[in-house]
Amino acid sequence: MLRKVEVCDVTTAWKIGMFQCAGLMGTWKLAENTATDFLDLGHWLTMARRCEEAGVDFLFFADDYGYPVVNGGLPATAVRSGVQFPKGDPMAILPALAAVTEKLGLVTTLSTTVEKPPMVARKMATLDHMTNGRIGWNVVTGAGQNASARLFGSELTEHDKRYEIAADHVDLSLKLWEGCWDEGALVVDREAGIYADPDKVREIVHRGPHFSSDGVLTVPPGPQRTPVLFQAGASAPGRDLAAKYAEAVFLAAEVPALAAQIADTRRRAEQYGRDPASIKFLMAGTFVVAETEAEARAIRERATATRTLDDAAASYAFFTGLDLSVMDPDKPLDPSAALTQTGRTNVERFLGPNAPTVRQILEEFQRNSVMGAPFIGTAEQVVDQAEVAMAATGADGFLVQPDHTGTFDSFIDLVMPELRARGLVQTDQPAMTLRERLLGTGSPHLAAEHPGAVYRNSAAARQ
Ligand SMILES: Cc1cc2nc3c(=O)[nH]c(=O)nc-3n(C[C@H](O)[C@H](O)[C@H](O)COP(=O)(O)O)c2cc1C
Repeated sequence: MLRKVEVCDVTTAWKIGMFQCAGLMGTWKLAENTATDFLDLGHWLTMARRCEEAGVDFLFFADDYGYPVVNGGLPATAVRSGVQFPKGDPMAILPALAAVTEKLGLVTTLSTTVEKPPMVARKMATLDHMTNGRIGWNVVTGAGQNASARLFGSELTEHDKRYEIAADHVDLSLKLWEGCWDEGALVVDREAGIYADPDKVREIVHRGPHFSSDGVLTVPPGPQRTPVLFQAGASAPGRDLAAKYAEAVFLAAEVPALAAQIADTRRRAEQYGRDPASIKFLMAGTFVVAETEAEARAIRERATATRTLDDAAASYAFFTGLDLSVMDPDKPLDPSAALTQTGRTNVERFLGPNAPTVRQILEEFQRNSVMGAPFIGTAEQVVDQAEVAMAATGADGFLVQPDHTGTFDSFIDLVMPELRARGLVQTDQPAMTLRERLLGTGSPHLAAEHPGAVYRNSAAARQ
């Protein structure tokens, strides 16, 4: 039966991003899952094309150098079961995806703990050109930081200090993107022999608490200048970093916790003089969807059965640095767990009144990992559930998890038509920059009130 399609207002349309990492994920053990093709470029080209055809806003690649570390090394479980291991580098995949798409936003993570600002600025500025302004940077201090520190032969930097470094990192990166090349600096006049106007290209000066720089970004600005700034990591200093700089935020938790995190980040943004409504919050959404509810529930059971409690413990160790397998399963986490120097979002989540026991945390990680409860059922049922979650959290859209096949096929084939029919998404937009598409401000550049905007053509970038 043909349904009436509601008209969607582009400013209120749900934003839809797709979550991937360039590695093995969750349910790779199922016969129909294709995540083991993560080192095959064709796998990613097919996925990007499908996302583009479906009209989703962007494809996101999570990234880090880490892996689970238990008892000072990589546990056998992580190797055997493929828990946060192995993975490739999204930076090597993204340009190929840019070549086969025209509208799809492309977003990836670079850690402010691992990468230096000029490296991030140069890579992202180049990708802004290669994607015609469709690139976004997910700013994180980083999951798996205990493993990453060992790999790079450095001491683990303390949690809160990592966030201080992140703020200084973003500040310098913004100067490089916004402050080096004035509008009109690029001349390319062959007859006059002028490539760029020396009066309009300048070195920035940065004396921050963690980074110092006198230099110029050698890449001329792309369509967006600054990539769209995403942020993930919901500890208090993480929310503060988001409030100051992020244009979009990735979150994953249960609905009440999500609502609190979003409200708190918007409140902090206001304190930084930003319009709290200008930040888009995208909650991780797992949609287990099939033609019938019974089928969806069967898929869910098969997917959960691919993960053991040992896998769950390895996964938890990756995010938090804590080994649940040696803790009393019948007691909640000790409050001192909140002092972990690895990631805190997934520790704080399980503390406080009505805290679950260690066994319950393991079971939660076995079912849902960091992503919170899934929506399960037919397309109509999961969209009903998603509408309730959106209303309860004040989020702006979803970061959709791959389905049991490792792709987004069930979401694209079943959920997207339902979202369109209800007028919840806008999927027929022309090609534009990711910032225009996501924020709807009509400009490819940072908003005037964003702290990076002050560095444009200004002496502020040189002090
Ligand atoms: C949807 C989502 C995507 C994320 N992507 C990444 C990522 O790509 N790389 C990474 O290191 N951390 C990522 N994180 C954040 C980490 O899980 C972790 O919370 C953070 O880096 C440590 O900060 P915290 O102490 O504030 O939790 C992501 C989190 C969420 C919710």
